[in-house]
Amino acid sequence: MIGLIQRVLIDHIESTLGESAVRQLAADAGIETLGRRIDTDYDDAECLRLFDAAGKALGLDQEALMALYADIFVKWTLVHYPMFFQMADSAQAFLARQPAIHASMGAGIRDAQLRARVNDKFRIVEQHPGRLVVEYRSENGLCGLYRALFRRLLEHYGERGRCEETGCMHRGDDYCRFVMHFEELPA
Ligand code: HEM
Repeated sequence: MIGLIQRVLIDHIESTLGESAVRQLAADAGIETLGRRIDTDYDDAECLRLFDAAGKALGLDQEALMALYADIFVKWTLVHYPMFFQMADSAQAFLARQPAIHASMGAGIRDAQLRARVNDKFRIVEQHPGRLVVEYRSENGLCGLYRALFRRLLEHYGERGRCEETGCMHRGDDYCRFVMHFEELPA
């Protein structure tokens, strides 16, 4: 996983619980040296263990952790990647660009196979005013993160909507499928 994801989480633990909590986090996750470089791809299993350890450190279950993460992630990206938000005037427009945003983040990875791994995770399946369907295929199984970011983006744009997960890898499907409905229609 590209270290941007870990960075937002580790920086949050550091600023709220202190440096010793970060050392404890690494120990709990069984990671020798925590990596948070935004241009580096780190081991996926370590990243998932990091989320688990962070949930314990913060006393949050998976859903609450993802909600918190989505909040700090959106705040972080608004500061560091404001252009992505300026380019989208609604949550639907942003989510429709999300696979392309990911591809641009992965573009810096030298190894072609690793780059493809980042690019192949998300696919826009259907797009109409007020409706967007996205497929997500990843062994990391972070569909809870997707749903949390969906909700946080609605909040950012001051919109209402809902996300149905009509397929899910956790339920044995080949991929997760998000059918999203938006009450504010993009222009
Ligand atoms: C400024 C906006 C965003 C940036 C810069 C960004 C960046 C990234 C990066 C660098 C990764 C790691 C990719 C990898 O190593 O494969 C990632 C993963 C992920 N992102 Fe985003 N992202 C953004 C917005 C979103 C949005 C809006 C969603 C969903 C609503 C989303 C959902 C996810 C999920 C579910 C993963 C985990 C993928 C996996 O490994 O299974 N992201 N993001």
